[in-house]
Amino acid sequence: MSIAQKSPIQREVVRSDLKESGQPNTRFLQNIWYFAAWSADVLQEPLARLIIEQPVVLFRTREGDVAALRNVCPHRFTPLSMGKVVGDTIECLYHGLRFAPSGQCVHNPHSETIPKAACVRRYPVAERDGIVWIWMGAAELADESTIVRYPELNQPDLFTYTCGQTMEMPLSYELMTDNLMDLSHVAFTHKTTLGSEGLVPGQTEVREEGDSIWCLRMAPNTKPAPSFSMSGACSEDDLVDYWLDICWDAPANFYLTSGHAPAGQGRYHGAQIDSLQVLTPSSATQCYYFFIHFRNYRRDDDAMTQELAKFIRQAFATEDEPMIASVQKHMGGRALEEMKPVLLTCDAGAMRVRRARERLLDLEANSGVLTERRE
Ligand code: FES
Ligand SMILES: [Fe+2]
Repeated sequence: MSIAQKSPIQREVVRSDLKESGQPNTRFLQNIWYFAAWSADVLQEPLARLIIEQPVVLFRTREGDVAALRNVCPHRFTPLSMGKVVGDTIECLYHGLRFAPSGQCVHNPHSETIPKAACVRRYPVAERDGIVWIWMGAAELADESTIVRYPELNQPDLFTYTCGQTMEMPLSYELMTDNLMDLSHVAFTHKTTLGSEGLVPGQTEVREEGDSIWCLRMAPNTKPAPSFSMSGACSEDDLVDYWLDICWDAPANFYLTSGHAPAGQGRYHGAQIDSLQVLTPSSATQCYYFFIHFRNYRRDDDAMTQELAKFIRQAFATEDEPMIASVQKHMGGRALEEMKPVLLTCDAGAMRVRRARERLLDLEANSGVLTERRE
């Protein structure tokens, strides 16, 4: 039975069960493109992912196309990612069945015939801007024109890029989304790395543009952030206008443009570090964090590129992760609104995104086109 066919009462039971186990009753959008991997990380070998609670294996064929299959062999349920890529197929490690990118078993070493049921679910994939996107919902609805594009990832005349990085975070993608949409935390949580105290009294504006939600922050005439001064954008004693503007698109894609201009000049007149940061939920309490940073200054300094990538990753791992992990632990699976948090002006962007995401989830739940979940 598909989830769409379940009555609202049955659906409520499923959600309550989850809640009693201390897990948040998170809903996930199905009919949307998720960031599955950086293109450079998908090779002719299996790559396992857990995306919205569905196990997936990705691999590349000899022609260079990406295949995405359910990561469960239909024989004895071994993860196909334990096996290997043979030609354009993936071979199960346990008894050697081979599956084509279509999901169909094409080789059975135990018999001349291939059992009818020997196939696995295939997920639509598309590569854009150096990213492998995967469609987790009904395959017939996959429309590549709805992939959110990031042409900034292909502008080597303007930017120098770090490598695309991936972290597996033991964190809810919803709490991580709140964290990214409220960058006032940078002044406190990242005081010695990405922060500047001027960001707190800085001006903040939330703006909707089409399906995107922007949260714009400007701290005029403030001290530089260590990430900019250590990378040679300015000196520690300078006064700068620091902007930090982030844009959300569903399900959890963020474009962040940040920079330092000499005080009084405002946005886009100085050193800029932009980034794409994308969260792909694995489960209610785990997500992948994909990010890449690119800058418009000291363009030829390769050592600086490496150092900046390490510096920022370290800030995410040692400053954001423990903070959100402790919040998640304290919440114990309860919904944010249920806990009646104190609301501050800095919450405006995060709350706007929460409302937009709920609207999309309700729309999908009421549309009757959710895909069947095969466990
Ligand atoms: S479990 Fe995969 S072939 Fe037997
Ligand atoms: Fe942060």
